[in-house]
Amino acid sequence: MKVLIATEKPFAKVAVDGIREIVEKAGYELCLLEKYTDVNELYAAVADVDAMIVRSDKVTAQVIDHAKNLKIVVRAGAGFDNLDLEACTANNIVAMNTPGQNSNAVAELVMGMLVYGVRNFYNGKSGSELMGKKLGLLAFGNVGRNVARIAKGFGMDVYAYDAFCPADAIEAAGVHAVDSRDALFETCDIVSLHIPATAETKQSINYDVVGKMRKGGILINTARKEVIDEAGLIKLMAERTDLKYISDIVPDADADFKQFEGRYFATPKKMGAQTEEANVNAGLAAANQIVNFFVNGDKKFQVNK
Ligand code: 3PG
Repeated sequence: MKVLIATEKPFAKVAVDGIREIVEKAGYELCLLEKYTDVNELYAAVADVDAMIVRSDKVTAQVIDHAKNLKIVVRAGAGFDNLDLEACTANNIVAMNTPGQNSNAVAELVMGMLVYGVRNFYNGKSGSELMGKKLGLLAFGNVGRNVARIAKGFGMDVYAYDAFCPADAIEAAGVHAVDSRDALFETCDIVSLHIPATAETKQSINYDVVGKMRKGGILINTARKEVIDEAGLIKLMAERTDLKYISDIVPDADADFKQFEGRYFATPKKMGAQTEEANVNAGLAAANQIVNFFVNGDKKFQVNK
């Protein structure tokens, strides 16, 4: 049995070592493809593997087509918009994610980027504090919950809206539930996005909704670039010179956003989950899920049901 780690953005070495230990203990062979730059390298690497672990790597129908022995693919992380689920299902491949395993890393980055943002990107000029500010979480999943936990330590007033999480569950976590997405943007000084990229959410963060933010509002995106209507946000930021946009995902229109110097920041590479701890948590969970699938038929984290 062959298990491939295919990561354009590699795991920390300690995570690869941990995955290797689990895979080899189960009697399987580990193959490694890191930092590939050409999809043909991926096509060649998947040719004879039974299982594969990826990060944001795109597992397209073409990749699946080259993976004749593949039975399971695990996205070591939360969002699985990079997997072609239909192609997996059509080829009897189980697709899984590892929910929650990297969420603290993303949440810590949110807070770090927020301090950076309210302190004017450390330009030396007087900024503001997070204490007492209203923070809105758009979606209250694993990342949103972790952001809430840390933000409360900063003395922030935390609000959330989640179309799939009942208000009483949000309130039970000590967070104010608001009854619509618009209300979240209207109420909060800062809105942090934690929605997945789906057909419904793509381009959904647009001119109208962000335009509801109070004066001096900050939009922070550690979710996916696809959820932003970039043209709409650029138009809004040109009109509303008080707004800031901070992200750990470079927008397609990065060059246009750069006109908003001092109000726009994006990390060069998506780095919310780029910690040793998150790599270990998600990578080892992925390896264990693969072994459990082959040994016990366990499909607990299957996403293409
Ligand atoms: C996720 O969906 O888990 C995060 O966006 C992390 O993505 P990454 O593994 O590419 O860093």
